Amino acid sequence: MNGENDSEKSRETGGVHEFWADPTSWQFSRVSGKLPAMRSIMVTGAAGFIGSNFVRLLVNRREAVKLLALDKLTYAGNLANIGDLLKSHPEQLAFARADICDAGEIERLWELHKITEVVHFAAESHVDRSILGSGPFVQTNVVGTQVLLDVAKANKVQKFLQVSTDEVYGTLPEDKPEEKFTEETPLQPNSPYSASKAAGDCLVRSYFHTFGLPVLTTRCSNNYGPYHFPEKLIPLFVTNLMEGKKVPLYGDGMNIRDWLYVEDHCEAIWTVLNKGRFGEVYNIGGNNEITNRKITETLIREMGRKWDDSVQYVKDRPGHDRRYAIDAGKIKRELGWEPKHRFDEAIKTTIQWYRDHQDWWRNIKSGEYLKYYQQQYAGR
Ligand code: NAD
Ligand code: DAU
Repeated sequence: MNGENDSEKSRETGGVHEFWADPTSWQFSRVSGKLPAMRSIMVTGAAGFIGSNFVRLLVNRREAVKLLALDKLTYAGNLANIGDLLKSHPEQLAFARADICDAGEIERLWELHKITEVVHFAAESHVDRSILGSGPFVQTNVVGTQVLLDVAKANKVQKFLQVSTDEVYGTLPEDKPEEKFTEETPLQPNSPYSASKAAGDCLVRSYFHTFGLPVLTTRCSNNYGPYHFPEKLIPLFVTNLMEGKKVPLYGDGMNIRDWLYVEDHCEAIWTVLNKGRFGEVYNIGGNNEITNRKITETLIREMGRKWDDSVQYVKDRPGHDRRYAIDAGKIKRELGWEPKHRFDEAIKTTIQWYRDHQDWWRNIKSGEYLKYYQQQYAGR
């Protein structure tokens, strides 16, 4: 496989798979090997917040790829997030309800749709729920990722992109603003959610080093934008304020997150998928650190409400990470990506989206959701 003759042989056959078992030869295959005529991407978690925005971006931009939107439709998955696209672009976009832990079903769908690449969003994603119970997080974020990797390996995947999070790096001190997470920062996850994501990332890394699987990993900061499930800070607070309810601010409200508009994250993932180097990690962030208190003030002001009528300080989240901040220098230097949206403008667009899509979030904020809300916030 490593000799010049082997390289020539592969060039004759033109098969990128010829080099699949040797990670060092991927560089060659990217330059000289033939990619299949039509890329067919399995997008896991495509009915969730970021996955659905990713699919929307690619379909709207008429990217020359076929997409299989795969989702288990847990409480966080909502087919309505991509329903219009499924109707308008049936030749480009298909949907399959499936669990990434079900190897047989993933294998069947892989063959049926002639999958060439995977963008892996599917996850249990809410830190508070991982504190209530970590079982589903280990199942989907660790076992599900392992199942996907094995099916991808057996089928000689062309690219496997693991969508991960800055939370795997743990927390940063607030009195050292110059410190940020780089790709070299050690993994120090503090919640069952981030621990399960870090375990998934480690499996992805190991499949590159052991089997030469062509993997890419992205680690992004906090997203906001349309289709964000109203259990997370921004959509929860926006919709509570629209309902005339108070917003539950944890602890002293001074925890810091680095906020990025979801479309910028999706652009970054697309850039890494197309230009990233296999085996590498790319941090993605907005260079936009804001305290939860400041976010709350902004939302209250934009929505014409008053602080004293709107905010309920509640008991802090156990193990609450104090500060996240991403150094996104590598993706800018190597791949030319940087965010296009400014927070002060994109937050207004986001609030307006929730004004215009009240049916979407009011449907969600009923039934099972109310049970969760009660369990999460009552007596805090
Ligand atoms: P989300 O909770 O909105 O969506 C997750 C989707 O995965 C849902 O549609 C759900 O039905 C699906 N899913 C869950 N378990 C599944 C399973 N076993 N099989 C198939 N589908 C399953 O999450 P999100 O905010 O869109 O996050 C997507 C990814 O991005 C996650 O991997 C998350 O860790 C990562 N991420 C999120 C953020 C953020 O700010 N939201 C930031 C960085 C990274
Ligand atoms: O950093 C990326 C991560 O961002 C993603 O990996 C996660 O999937 C995503 O959920 C998000 O995690 P956070 O825990 O940072 O997001 P969340 O919206 O839950 O909380 C943001 C901040 O707001 C955090 O400091 C806790 C605080 N908060 C949150 C809720 C839900 C409150 O003060 N009150 C609340 O009710």
